[in-house]
Amino acid sequence: MTDKNAELGHQKLDWARAHMPVHAALRQRFAEQAPFSGVRIAVCSHIEAKTGVFLETLAAAGADVVFTGSEPGSSQDDVVAALNQQPGITGYAQRGVSEERLAGLHGQALEHGPNLILDDAAELTARLAHQRPDLLDDLQGVCEQTTTGVQRIRAMVAEGVLRFPAYAVNHTPMKHEFDNIHGTGESALTNLMLTTNLLLAGKQVVVAGYGDCGVGIAHKARAWGAQVTVTEVEPRRALRAHMNGFAVMPMVEAAAQGEIFITATGNRDVLRVEHFERMRDGAILANAGHFNVEIDRDGLAGLAVERRQARPGIEAFCTADGREIHLVCEGRLVNLAAPTAMGHPAEVMDQTFAMQFMAARDLLVRREQLAAGVHPVPDAVDEEVAALKLETLGVGIDALTESQQRFLEAWRSEEILDRP
Ligand code: NAI
Repeated sequence: MTDKNAELGHQKLDWARAHMPVHAALRQRFAEQAPFSGVRIAVCSHIEAKTGVFLETLAAAGADVVFTGSEPGSSQDDVVAALNQQPGITGYAQRGVSEERLAGLHGQALEHGPNLILDDAAELTARLAHQRPDLLDDLQGVCEQTTTGVQRIRAMVAEGVLRFPAYAVNHTPMKHEFDNIHGTGESALTNLMLTTNLLLAGKQVVVAGYGDCGVGIAHKARAWGAQVTVTEVEPRRALRAHMNGFAVMPMVEAAAQGEIFITATGNRDVLRVEHFERMRDGAILANAGHFNVEIDRDGLAGLAVERRQARPGIEAFCTADGREIHLVCEGRLVNLAAPTAMGHPAEVMDQTFAMQFMAARDLLVRREQLAAGVHPVPDAVDEEVAALKLETLGVGIDALTESQQRFLEAWRSEEILDRP
């Protein structure tokens, strides 16, 4: 890696830092206290500029930081180079690696013997529990920032293999109501449209999954003028999509209508051969869920009589009946792995990583009270980050009056209605 590369990485870090005021406040508040002094923290995430600012903030709060990528295509080599030049931070991440190479990089990060893991999709957590049980004694706990990761750690609990506490940071309002909805919503669409260089307005867009990410993508695509159809497997979510005005139907029907398909389910084979067979010529397929298994790429390859690179980041699969189906960045996270992708906007990651920071601090303080298992992050931590965020935005809110507070806590009707 050349110095020029690191220079570009520093430039990206400077820009992100300037747009992450909550992190600036955290650095100011915790530099002297150094709550992570002597703590080895392993961060597994998409290693790009916002993650870099988070790592800097952990190091400023005293941590000995090691980082690694959570996905083969989502890290940026220039940012990795720039971070590796900073004191207190060591990292093992690279863009465009094989699954085997990624496993090797994780192995190198784990060699540091982390006391805390701040994870994405439970990649490092699962690897440590499965392959390095010798490191369990040093591990105090885990903070997990994704839907898929929390699900995976819960599966570890069900199997009786989780021996440490894990905070479900993804499930805090400050994370999933902003990062998943607005972050994924905006960045999946902007990166998809940049990669295709096509117009969203007027297009038939099919969104698979109406969870937080799907909600963000569906609503923002509609706001840009797309005709949006939602597919679901969960009846209440499907009903919510219906009452929010979206067309809802099984994928096998939506497949014939869609021009652009975006999966956001955290599941596998959501788009598969029976759907590809019905798709229009020119259909575009992209994924926003964590793993690249939401679109059955092997099934698509099996249908193809010819494959070619249509544009950077887009592969065309030509079928025997003369159609072309276009797969964006191999079905990997479109907002992170597309050629020009930068991930979520800085402001939203400022919040997400502030939650990781504050949850990690709280987990260390409360470690003795926390049994092995998945725990919610205390609401007070979430509120503290929300208050900090509002402060940086210069947004004021009201406070409850005394009588309002009493009213909310009362149950006798005379107390509620203030009658004798
Ligand atoms: P969620 O659990 O809130 O929503 C997923 C939805 O998909 C649920 O409503 C579920 O019923 C539905 N679903 C499951 N299987 C389906 C199928 N076969 N067809 C249609 N719908 C199906 O999860 P959330 O938070 O929306 O996350 C989704 C995925 O996106 C996860 O893998 C998560 O880790 C990932 N994620 C990606 C981000 C990014 O930067 N691209 C950011 C945040 C999360």
